Amino acid sequence: MEQDKKQMPAGFLWGAATSAYQAEGAAEEDGKKRSQMDVLSAGTGFADASVASDHYHRYKEDIVLMKECGFTAYRFSFSWSRIFPDGTGEVNAKGIEFYDDLINRLVANGIKPLPTIYHYDMPMALVEKYDGWISRQSIEDFVSYSEFLIRRYGDRIKDWLIINEQSIIVEFWKKKNYIPEKYRNDPQIKFQINHHMNIAQARVSRLIHQLVPDGRSGAAIGYAPIYGLDSAPENMLAMLNAEDLKNHYFLDIYFHGTYPVGASHYLQEKGMAPVIEKDDMEIIRSGKLDFLGVNYYASKCVRFPDAAHNVRTEAESNLSGKKGEMGAYETMPDFYQYIKNPNADTNDWDWTIDPMGMEYLLRDIYQRYHIPIMITENGLGARDVLVDGRVHDDYRIDYWKKHLRAIHRAIQMGVEVQGFLPWSFIDVLSTSNGYQKRYGLVYVNRDDGDLKDLARIKKDSFYWYQRVIETNGASLFDDI
Ligand code: BG6
Repeated sequence: MEQDKKQMPAGFLWGAATSAYQAEGAAEEDGKKRSQMDVLSAGTGFADASVASDHYHRYKEDIVLMKECGFTAYRFSFSWSRIFPDGTGEVNAKGIEFYDDLINRLVANGIKPLPTIYHYDMPMALVEKYDGWISRQSIEDFVSYSEFLIRRYGDRIKDWLIINEQSIIVEFWKKKNYIPEKYRNDPQIKFQINHHMNIAQARVSRLIHQLVPDGRSGAAIGYAPIYGLDSAPENMLAMLNAEDLKNHYFLDIYFHGTYPVGASHYLQEKGMAPVIEKDDMEIIRSGKLDFLGVNYYASKCVRFPDAAHNVRTEAESNLSGKKGEMGAYETMPDFYQYIKNPNADTNDWDWTIDPMGMEYLLRDIYQRYHIPIMITENGLGARDVLVDGRVHDDYRIDYWKKHLRAIHRAIQMGVEVQGFLPWSFIDVLSTSNGYQKRYGLVYVNRDDGDLKDLARIKKDSFYWYQRVIETNGASLFDDI
């Protein structure tokens, strides 16, 4: 009896995740044209997306590894500009051939394909044509692109993640969107982009409901539970403010069809609120989502901004990978100021390591929205080292073990968690740190300056995860 209790529920999905521009490479091959991420990842001093992990050419070999590990699901994303090189119009037959074969092979191997329709990679053609998501026309073009996918794959794919990490698209708006110079000093733009995405996502959610029998719509949100520095009333208020603007601002839209009042009023006061047209909120309400993908890496900590820091400051990543060199923490004046949590450890890029945060967020989200949840990303970025053909990533095993135990605890507490798809399956191009920061179960033999042979090498975490999957989670408790 006890043994059963220490497992994940029957049917729990086990797998891992990647995204198109970070894994596929072949950025301008077989008819694909550039996306904004192909452009933004170039000239950063790190690797760019042109080859990435060469998944486009090695996906068959990669699926064999998924199968060997025991995956029952795989999260990947479609590249919009591989399917529609110009964002609209002509479909690229070669692009479709790739996704047809990827999906069919996954299904043939008993691995559920869990796609994301949009993972940061707006076609560059649409950026050039009308500034991408900044224009309302993006809604129409995104809906057409999505409809094509839903009609083509709706017989094999029931669960759809529509947009990846809107919260991060807003927070890092100049890194996750190609923003033309004239808009770069206007932070209202990031909330306008977000509003357009909300309308687009709701319309696509409706299409899934109309076109896919038993289809479910979801989104993968980048989610960090936010803690107040201490019990000082102003810091507790800062915590509420940040929860409202960083978390509820997205999830209230997805599951209630409304923007939270506190955050909305704050944005109005500061001149940053999105322009909302007459029928927008009705469209949003009519396309609520069915489930949530949670991407969780780290919790955050806030205090109320003191006088010296009460100016709008945007978040900047740690580019050096040396602890303590975080570029900048976000401040929203009179609302909150992000700070380093003095009570939690971090990785080398200053991301907090907080497994308890996993139980906290799962219980909090479930209590608020009562929707099924999948963990669609979770992982530890590290400088893995290849020694004699092995990668001993015991630090990653420790990280995942603790996070999975927290998920198990949340399930015991009544939360409906349906799967675990950590970041990442193979090593992929990090969004900020090239191949210096790796997350994979499988090492990809390349670095930023040298493509080497791009060979796949199973890390220690691969073998550990294989056993976790085989025992449906029971092995997580072997040593306690
Ligand atoms: C998530 C993204 O924000 O975090 C992924 O969905 C990303 O695309 C991952 O790679 C890790 O972030 P980073 O910057 O370390 O690559």
